[in-house]
Amino acid sequence: KRQKSIRNFSIIAHIDHGKSTLADRILEKTGALTSREMKDQTLDAMDLERERGITIKLNAVQLKYTAKDGEDYILHLIDTPGHVDFTYEVSRSLAACEGAVLVVDAAQGIEAQTLANVYLALDNDLEILPIINKIDLPSADVERVRQEIEDVIGLDASEAVPTSAKAGIGIEEILEQIVEKVPAPTGDPSAPLEALIFDSYYDAYRGVVASIRIVNGTVKVGDKIRMMSTGKDFEVLELAVATPKPLRQQELTVGDVGTLSASIKTVGDVRVGDTITLAKQPATEALPGYRKMNPMVYCGLYPIDAAKYNDLREALEKLQLSDAALEFEPETSQALGFGFRCGFLGMLHMEIIQERIEREFNIDMITTAPSVIYHVTTTAGEVLHVDNPSKMPDQQKVEFIEEPFVKAAVMTPNDYVGAIMELCQKKRGTFVDMQYIDTTRVKITYELPLSEIVYDFFDQLKSSTKGYASLDYELIGYQQSRLVKMDILLNNENVDALSFIVHRDFAYERGKVIVDKLKELIPRMQFEVPIQAAVGTKIVARSTIKALRKNVLAKCYGGDISRKRKLLEKQKEGKKRMKMVGSVEVPQEAFMSVLSMD
Ligand code: GTP
Repeated sequence: KRQKSIRNFSIIAHIDHGKSTLADRILEKTGALTSREMKDQTLDAMDLERERGITIKLNAVQLKYTAKDGEDYILHLIDTPGHVDFTYEVSRSLAACEGAVLVVDAAQGIEAQTLANVYLALDNDLEILPIINKIDLPSADVERVRQEIEDVIGLDASEAVPTSAKAGIGIEEILEQIVEKVPAPTGDPSAPLEALIFDSYYDAYRGVVASIRIVNGTVKVGDKIRMMSTGKDFEVLELAVATPKPLRQQELTVGDVGTLSASIKTVGDVRVGDTITLAKQPATEALPGYRKMNPMVYCGLYPIDAAKYNDLREALEKLQLSDAALEFEPETSQALGFGFRCGFLGMLHMEIIQERIEREFNIDMITTAPSVIYHVTTTAGEVLHVDNPSKMPDQQKVEFIEEPFVKAAVMTPNDYVGAIMELCQKKRGTFVDMQYIDTTRVKITYELPLSEIVYDFFDQLKSSTKGYASLDYELIGYQQSRLVKMDILLNNENVDALSFIVHRDFAYERGKVIVDKLKELIPRMQFEVPIQAAVGTKIVARSTIKALRKNVLAKCYGGDISRKRKLLEKQKEGKKRMKMVGSVEVPQEAFMSVLSMD
């Protein structure tokens, strides 16, 4: 009977369509939080998320709801991130649900990530409940969006609730539909335990805490559990559900969503996607694990203070715990010393990890420019996977190079079709297809090298369409390209951390842009510093940083002392993110200069 009253669901949406706001309203409506208690957007707990306005980490909350039929229901709302980099985390939280509320903005309609999320929900056999949000906006057009949901996604949208998460309209109706349409969990409470780990984090007192969804069986405090992928056993110390305040439980059973801790000290012992079972009555087979997401973008992370190397390793280990997609291994650079090569799902993922390391672990770092993985076939017939441009073999040893390509879908109002095609062409794209969604909007499909997307594609797409276009992409495989390695020499010395891979046809142009950029970014020294860009032994571009003449303080003569102090402090701040490379001081931005194309 209890199992019949459980509903497990997620909210999925294109970014900014109102997912977090809706989650807040649902929490409020079910009394999980009074509006006074509620800071805005409770489910987005991390500061960083709040600042960026995107949901990254998963969270699950248990809610009580008395429906119009008079029955009491237990709802588990499992939060999902909305950005294209985090498709993996979305699919992992969806695997713990039976239903998904699909939020579509009444003014903007279906966007690229709306579609991507719908496909993930369908992959997980979820019941999808479309709702049309932001009906309070003057530009809202509920009927047009309803039609769009039917035409483009093929979902029945006749009962899609017109909602304003902001004004609190339609919330009860949504809860009623969840109760009515989302199936209760199936599963047998007395079967061998199968609990899906869909998230985990490290707690200083409890050790590793796993977020779990019980699919079959029951787990109690004191039980001896087994991790199915490693065969390691642990004793359950604490079970809890978030309401959102943590509430300790003696047991969790079929359909429950909660947390489990078992004084697990080693981060690697809890693998997201793994199945937990009981040691004395183990399940025969693990639940279908998640597709392991492979990182698509790699960069080097180097502590500015070499003594922080071990701290950086620990930070990465802790972050990896709740982020199975993060990869890292030690690497050394002639220019930067000891550090780590790290793999990320995309640029946003990379930025978030960097920021978390700096904020939460207080480690200042230099990060090198992101790179994709190149497949290099050597003249000896060997195939190398190169994730660091400086490791690219010499040109004469290379038979050919392949790079990853994606199929990118851009959804946009008609007016920007020209601008988008121009951008895709510039980024070495191949046109595939163009489809009208309705009379005013189109979906354009291109094949593009992933490396071009990784760079500034998204920003350029946004700026050339006034923010109206949306993007989704998926990897389609490797294709041969005419690529070369470009080296950068500072003061006649090759700086390995500045090497990058570029298409042969763009080598001169890019070399010029980068030496000019570096000239701006690298502070002047007491001596002249030549900057050169080279392909093999051939210099393709050069510029020179002039020697410094005046003392910076000279500018302030006659000024008051506080201004001088301010200037010195500013310099000190700027210094934090500098690294001596040979005899030249190189700031963080220089390592990213490869990313800007203009
Ligand atoms: P991510 O967490 O970044 O994926 O975005 P989200 O989909 O959770 O969107 P969020 O709830 O943060 O809302 C995005 C913006 O839309 C915010 O500025 C909200 O205040 C606004 N918003 C959300 N719902 C409504 C609504 O019903 N009406 C109006 N006018 N604005 C809304």
